[in-house]
Amino acid sequence: MQEEKEWYQSWFESPYYDLLYKDRDQEEADMFIHNLVTHLAPSKNALMLDLACGKGRHSIALNRMGYNVTGVDLSQRKIKAAKQHENSSLSFEVHDMRMPLEPNKYDYVFNLFTSFGYFDNEEENKVVLTNVFNSLKSKGIFILDYVNGERASKYLLKHEEYSLEGVDFSIYRYAKNNVIVKEIKIKDGVVECSFTEKVNIFSETKLKEYITGCGFEVLETFGDYQLNKFIAKDSDRLIIISRKP
Ligand SMILES: C[S@@+](CC[C@H](N)C(=O)[O-])C[C@H]1O[C@@H](n2cnc3c(N)ncnc32)[C@H](O)[C@@H]1O
Repeated sequence: MQEEKEWYQSWFESPYYDLLYKDRDQEEADMFIHNLVTHLAPSKNALMLDLACGKGRHSIALNRMGYNVTGVDLSQRKIKAAKQHENSSLSFEVHDMRMPLEPNKYDYVFNLFTSFGYFDNEEENKVVLTNVFNSLKSKGIFILDYVNGERASKYLLKHEEYSLEGVDFSIYRYAKNNVIVKEIKIKDGVVECSFTEKVNIFSETKLKEYITGCGFEVLETFGDYQLNKFIAKDSDRLIIISRKP
């Protein structure tokens, strides 16, 4: 009997995900990475991991700035697309972030654009952060870019309908038990399908508790890709920079 897939295995694997989020593109990644690199000033020989890299837009941006980058993601389709950009200092592989990574290897680990908090079970979220911690060298830096749940749940747009490249999307959103749920119904000619996206709402305090609970020290917090200050009621993003002691 075939095992039923988790929502994150089906939705991110679907080309409709790419269509719906097409504005989350290389240009946006280039801008964010430029701001992060300017701020963090990593040494030129730093080894970097882009955890849950998708099709690799941030890995590509980091590599273009001269860094040696590995990108990993659960989605075979996304990694296949990312691999087209591989070179001697940029590689991609399929990897489940709940599984251990090579220990003490990286100087920087990036987890960007809400690529965390998908699991029902709190322990699995902690396992991911512990894997990140173990994969970093001493003094290694972890950059976590998460949706600001406080603002997102307050301004939740309950229903939206629109067409993109001839595909009709009907989207319903609600928050339940500290999870933002997005039901996505799709009509593409005669094809009709639906997907679910679920993201845990973490307060700044809760996320920092997770991070420090795994051994990190939190260094800085930002609220958007321009690296402005985090303000819980206003900021779109919750970007936490932490360090392995
Ligand atoms: C919101 S997307 C962001 C992708 C990428 N960071 C970006 O900004 O383009 C989240 C990514 O997490 C990946 N993902 C989900 N569960 C995962 C897991 N257990 N291990 C590794 N990657 C996972 C998905 O396949 C998807 O590519």
